[in-house]
Amino acid sequence: VRWSMRVLRRIAEEVIGADKARRLWGRLEIVGDIAVIKSSAIAEGKDEILPEEYEAIAEELMKRFKYVRSVWLATAPMTGDYRLRGLRHLAGEKRTVTVYKEHGCSFKVDIARVFVTPRLSYEHSRIASLVRPGEVVVNMFAGVGLFSVIIAKKSSPRVVHSIDINPYAYRYMIENIKLNGVEDLVIPHLGDAAQVVEEMLVGVADRVLMPLPELALDYTVYAVKALRDGRGTIHFYLHKRIPRGGNPVVSAITAVKNRLGGLGVELHSADGRIVRKVGPRAYQVVVDAHVGSRTS
Ligand SMILES: C[S@@+](CC[C@H](N)C(=O)[O-])C[C@H]1O[C@@H](n2cnc3c(N)ncnc32)[C@H](O)[C@@H]1O
Repeated sequence: VRWSMRVLRRIAEEVIGADKARRLWGRLEIVGDIAVIKSSAIAEGKDEILPEEYEAIAEELMKRFKYVRSVWLATAPMTGDYRLRGLRHLAGEKRTVTVYKEHGCSFKVDIARVFVTPRLSYEHSRIASLVRPGEVVVNMFAGVGLFSVIIAKKSSPRVVHSIDINPYAYRYMIENIKLNGVEDLVIPHLGDAAQVVEEMLVGVADRVLMPLPELALDYTVYAVKALRDGRGTIHFYLHKRIPRGGNPVVSAITAVKNRLGGLGVELHSADGRIVRKVGPRAYQVVVDAHVGSRTS
């Protein structure tokens, strides 16, 4: 993140001058051969950079990074059920489809129609490294299948059930399963995770992933239902805003414990880590919750 802030700032200083560049609170996100400029000033409605200034910065960016073919400005943070961002074209090809590579796997994505971010890269490999051979995994909010495909490629699961409600995410997920040759290991499902679990995945899983902070706690009951004999591991991704001096990991583990307790489910043990900062004193945190009497 720091690298991408520094690069953007340096280019902006050269193109629009140091004074104005100081007002650009942004960073770069590069997905395949597409670069997205993300600005927190825009998110807060305080943007002082003119459209043509963004375009000039984008042109310069393309000169520096030869592999970047298209540059976009994120005009709104990720929103809505599908977690999509608003985008305005700045330079290069007017194209939002690309192939994004991570951990030796390839993912076709349309950054305007599906959620994707390189900032979950470490989590993808961390979770894959926890999966033991023969496990059944349910990924309740799978997007275009990054966790699911990487687990299938690296960890010899029995099967990964990969659910998303966005028809575009589902379509790209199917393509990505084929692209990476894991047709026998990843089963795509289109629909609401609660409904898909109720209808076909009750009592099947050793491990459940909930990588959607907005719904993870509300859908705890379905994650528990998906576990075989009510035992296994649930990975909760949560957003935690904390007071000064507070600990987001402790606060997230407490939230998970309370939610499970409310459902009469025993939390055997839990670990947590900060995934990324998402705002002033706000963090995305993952809690690995070992539920029931068996640790896994
Ligand atoms: C943060 S993204 C997932 C990121 C993905 N796991 C990755 O690693 O790139 C959350 C996803 O949940 C999906 N979603 C939202 N509500 C859902 C629901 N009720 N059931 C299933 N999927 C849902 C969205 O379409 C979106 O693709």
